[in-house]
Amino acid sequence: MGINLLKQKGYEVVVNEKARDRSASEKEIIGALQQARGKAPFDAILSVLTDKITSQVMDAGLPNLKIIANYAVGFDNIDLGAAKKRNIQVTNTPGVLTDSVAEHTFTLMLSIAHRITEADKFSRAGKYKAWGPELLLGTDLSGKTLGVVGLGRIGSRVAHHAVKGFDMKLIYTDVKQNPEFELEFGAVFVSTIDELLPKCDFVSIHVPLLPSTHHLINEARLKLMKPSAYLINTSRGPVIDERALALSLSKGEIGGAAIDVFEFEPEITKDLKKLDNIILTPHIASATRETRDKMAILAAENIISALSGQLPPNLVG
Ligand code: DGY
Repeated sequence: MGINLLKQKGYEVVVNEKARDRSASEKEIIGALQQARGKAPFDAILSVLTDKITSQVMDAGLPNLKIIANYAVGFDNIDLGAAKKRNIQVTNTPGVLTDSVAEHTFTLMLSIAHRITEADKFSRAGKYKAWGPELLLGTDLSGKTLGVVGLGRIGSRVAHHAVKGFDMKLIYTDVKQNPEFELEFGAVFVSTIDELLPKCDFVSIHVPLLPSTHHLINEARLKLMKPSAYLINTSRGPVIDERALALSLSKGEIGGAAIDVFEFEPEITKDLKKLDNIILTPHIASATRETRDKMAILAAENIISALSGQLPPNLVG
């Protein structure tokens, strides 16, 4: 949809077809930009979250490159400082994926708590021989305490579903306290994640990837969680130290985890794949038809604005 919109506006669009089933390397992106230089240099890059848009990539696109429109709300794949120095605009796709990611977060939370993936495997393997009162016992969400780490758009939406849909109690931490939100959802603010972790039955991560959030969940913090607690991550993989998570899960130090993003994406730490008390989905939290169409349109609109000399609606940095 985004491509069509750009074409309708008369832009020539070149799609890297080779990168449909794998991520494009930095070298490949630089090569494509350099090749186009003399003939039809690119004015815009529409990048996905696995494209590393470094200063070298930007230099290969100069002098024509004016905008990098990321097809994601997160933009940790783009060197913002380098873009600023080169006067290249950077945009993202906020808002349109909030509902999908919040729904996926809840899907993960419900699935790990009710042991859905284990139950599915069990049923397919022909192991269901008799109903039993203790067969695959899980845990309820209702009445439990959810800790939301990062109260942006997605964290707030998850909090909404937790309170309004499941009568969960809410604790949150964020760089900013939000008294209105506290009033509406009966939420309790704590100023540090260390205060939040021991109090929660479920912890859901919604922070951007920054130097300060890299390995925010590490060995010491996992030890602060209740042994019955579940950890959910639909933000960015490197926010969790996966080696520490695998160790903690294998020792039963926490109840379980459900994650959509990985530290070394698309690689998944081998030890995590061996465990039953974790659910792994391949970074698909925003992958619904509706949302992906909206993301594509927004990315295209950002490019159209920038190339027609207007301020793109979703400028970051
Ligand atoms: C984003 O947009 O940053 C999401 O991770 C995509 O699902």
